Parts: sequence; C-alpha cells; structure tokens
Amino acid sequence: MPGSWQTRQVEMEGWYATLAIDQDTAVEALSRDYQPYAHILTNIKGLVLDIGGGAGLAGAYMDPDTEYIVIDPSLSWTTERWAAIRRRLSPHRTEFNFVLGTGENLPFPSQSFDAALAFWSLNHASNPGQCIAEIHRILKPCGRALLVLEDMEPGWIDILQLVGQALMRKLGRPVRNPLNWGSAKDVIWRKLSGQPWPLQSDHQRIVERELVHWLHGQFRVVNRSWIGGFLSYELEA
Ligand SMILES: C[S@@+](CC[C@H](N)C(=O)[O-])C[C@H]1O[C@@H](n2cnc3c(N)ncnc32)[C@H](O)[C@@H]1O
Repeated sequence: MPGSWQTRQVEMEGWYATLAIDQDTAVEALSRDYQPYAHILTNIKGLVLDIGGGAGLAGAYMDPDTEYIVIDPSLSWTTERWAAIRRRLSPHRTEFNFVLGTGENLPFPSQSFDAALAFWSLNHASNPGQCIAEIHRILKPCGRALLVLEDMEPGWIDILQLVGQALMRKLGRPVRNPLNWGSAKDVIWRKLSGQPWPLQSDHQRIVERELVHWLHGQFRVVNRSWIGGFLSYELEA
C-alpha cells in the first residue's frame, strides 16, 4: 500500500536533496535520464506545460523559442542549488517559469497550451487520472503530450523485446535503448508468478489498463515505447 501523498512527497524530496549535494553526480544522472528523450523534446514547439516538472530540466532539451512553464507542488526545486544544476544542464534557458500547484487542478484556461509533459510525475500524484483529464483540458486541439511513467509492468510483447536484447548481448551485438528491468529470466518468472510489479515506496501504482482507460476518448496514442526502461506515451489531444 503506498503511503499518503505527503509521506511520499517527503521521501521524494529527501531523495532529490541527497542527489543535489554533489552537483556533478546530479548533472550526470539527470542528463542520463533526459538524454533518451532529447529527440522528442527538440520537436516540441510553442507554449509548453511541464506537470510535476521539478527543476525545469526538460526545458534544456527544447528549442529556446518554446515558452516553457513548470507546475509542481514542491517548493524544494526553487533553491539556488537546483538553479545551479539547471544552469549547467540548460545554459541557453536561464528564465524559469515556476507555478506552485498540482496536475489535478491546473490553474490555466482550457485549450491554452501547445504541448504538455509529465516526466516521472504521474506516479507521484494522488489522482493521475484527473491529471490526464486536466492535461487534455488545457491542450489546444491536436496539442501534444508526453507522459513518462514509472514502475509499469511490461506486457508479454515487451518481454519478448527484453529476450531479444539478451540474445543480442550474447551475440556481442549492440543493444539500442536497453530495457532495465533485470534479467529476462527473472522478469518472466515474476510475470508468470503473478506477483505485483515492484513499486518504489514514494510511488503510487499505475496499471497500463487503467491508463489506457483514462486516455480513451481524449487522446490519440501517437507512440507507445519503453525509453530508458520507462513506459512513455506520446499523445495527441
Ligand atoms: C520524480 S519527480 C520528477 C521531477 C521532474 N519531472 C524531473 O524530471 O526531474 C516527481 C515530481 O512530481 C511532483 N508531484 C507530486 N505530486 C504531484 C501532483 N499531484 N501533480 C503534479 N506534480 C506532482 C513532485 O513534486 C516532483 O517534483
């Protein structure tokens, strides 16, 4: 059972505070997480809202002409330490629009944004389904959204991809976009045993079936992929 939203927030803030102590390590770890998304972020245009956007690091990968706003319920991101990390990752985007708030209640007019991002934040929200409905509301018709989810259980077809990657490694061939769920044997065993998928203690579980239900009738799925081991949905409103 996940803890309350507050308990999970405190744990998340503690984890990031520890990460930010050593700036070199933080910059390296965060660029490693964001880099695989650079090809998507560079194509985003216009007015962009980053839900649970933290220190605004996604802004580093977008065209400097995009207008980029972060909404997040944690003020822990507004410290000088995070500003310094952001400057190192994003020297071309010194301006940072930060709005204190949650994804469940976006304080913006309907159909006002060209794109929305949710990088590793929906599992932290209390009501991810409501966040998705709000994302849909604030997007212009045909606006784009990118949702990056954690602790998602792979389907059997995804596991086949993992088996393929294990084979490629055995053959000494390079593996593009490696899936980081552990060994194929362990993953297959877990799936067959019906055990719940591992869940980080500061996360709330999102089941893909439920996610598909929230998206239904609101978004067209442009692409579903595992990027850096995270289930990523590119959507059109
Ligand atoms: C794992 S952090 C990711 C931060 C940022 N997206 C990044 O990539 O560095 C999760 C973020 O979700 C935020 N969050 C928690 N509850 C939220 C909610 N209800 N709505 C929007 N964001 C939320 C947290 O404050 C935190 O900044």
